[in-house]
Amino acid sequence: MKKHLLPFYQTLQLPLLGEKQIQVVVKRLDLLHPLIQGNKHYKLLHNIRAAKERGYAKILTFGGAFSNHIHATAISAAQNGLQSIGLIRGEIPRPLNPTLSDAENQGMQLYPMPRTDYRGKQSPLVLEQLRLKFGEVYIIPEGGTNALAIKGSREILDPEDKLMDVVAVPIGTGGTFAGLLASASTNQQVLGFSALKGAFIHQEISKLLEDQQINPSCSWDIHTTYHFGGYGKFKPELIAFIKEIKETCGLPLEPLYTGKMLYGLMDLIRNDAFHKGTRILLIHTGGLQGIRGFNQRFKTDL
Ligand SMILES: Cc1ncc(COP(=O)(O)O)c(C=O)c1O
Repeated sequence: MKKHLLPFYQTLQLPLLGEKQIQVVVKRLDLLHPLIQGNKHYKLLHNIRAAKERGYAKILTFGGAFSNHIHATAISAAQNGLQSIGLIRGEIPRPLNPTLSDAENQGMQLYPMPRTDYRGKQSPLVLEQLRLKFGEVYIIPEGGTNALAIKGSREILDPEDKLMDVVAVPIGTGGTFAGLLASASTNQQVLGFSALKGAFIHQEISKLLEDQQINPSCSWDIHTTYHFGGYGKFKPELIAFIKEIKETCGLPLEPLYTGKMLYGLMDLIRNDAFHKGTRILLIHTGGLQGIRGFNQRFKTDL
């Protein structure tokens, strides 16, 4: 990571922020690598290393047809001389969408996984069947969240980031959030914005913290009201917001995670959720590759 070469931190200049005297600085993890962006870099780092050290030649993982994780795993595996297998939830669209087309071009073998099987994909029986079918494979769960992904996510915050009052991050499976909770400093608050509908994420996070024996010293909270109808769902105001931020601040966001997070954060700021002078670090978790498929699918022009 050559931070000094990149415009890595971007301070947002928006009238509302001036009016409320809130500083929002974006940590542009989307600029880490042209293809393996954002939290994916951190979540895969130790997994790829472990696969190689343990002598595996193949990585197997799971995801939806637009998955950033599938995309990043295909590229990361290829770059590290590993083969990759992607089990895709439901149908594989033909022609392939940009996400899957990139993955296949990197050598990933794609297989559809019926939705009923997909739900049970982490059960010991299914994992055993997968090993019988595909041989010795290093298996990474959906979304990439496991102990090594959380270990990698602990490395997101640099010492200077720990001077910020609030760290904001989107939540899917919660692995990145858990890593931030394990590494944020005592006087910080880590704020998660769930991309999925429902309060179940609180339980998921509690389980992750328990399993990984993480006892956060920072305070934390999760917002579950900025999902715009659920995972992958959106409303015209979200699209308009993302476009406006790109035009006014030059900050690219995608509509599944980072767009919803900043929308939610601005809403909280508007409603005086933070006191004057609060310094907020927004973690840009990447995912910009997904915009192409989103535009194709929903006829949007992000
Ligand atoms: C761009 C982006 N941001 C955030 C997340 C959420 O990360 P996590 O699953 O670790 O909560 C994901 C999904 O993994 C993602 O692709």
